[in-house]
Amino acid sequence: MATERTLSIIKPDATKRNLTGKINAKFEEAGLTIVAQKRIHLTKAQAGEFYKVHAERPFYDELCEFMASAPVVVQVLEGDNAIAKNREVMGATNPADAAPGTIRAEFAESVGENSVHGSDAAETAAEEIAYFFAGIEIVG
Ligand code: CMP
Repeated sequence: MATERTLSIIKPDATKRNLTGKINAKFEEAGLTIVAQKRIHLTKAQAGEFYKVHAERPFYDELCEFMASAPVVVQVLEGDNAIAKNREVMGATNPADAAPGTIRAEFAESVGENSVHGSDAAETAAEEIAYFFAGIEIVG
């Protein structure tokens, strides 16, 4: 199995409810190591740049407003098959479809306010990690 890194974001709906520790426990229980982490408050423009791939979607403006509405915790998770493993731990985008025990099943409020983001592929993981972290901040 390949050791990978993936970008994770604990979103405003979760930070506002003080769920950072409970969500981090889910990552660590699944064998993912948090090798970088910081709490930041995104501007709407920064959120828009991060999610630019969704710029044409009808929910784009709402998504950017939400991501800038309160602090987020951005983090790099490392482990065997970290990208797929993190997506498994997060559960489906819509919490109504998320498997029991996943982060979104337990904590997400709606498809928009769904508690966590995780990279979807190796190329996007590299880009997303570089958007938030310098190499010197990632300690594996
Ligand atoms: P995320 O994994 O961060 O990637 C894109 C985000 O867009 C997604 O999680 C959701 O938070 C959001 N999103 C996807 N579909 C919808 C939708 N139908 N309405 C509002 N937000 C959505």
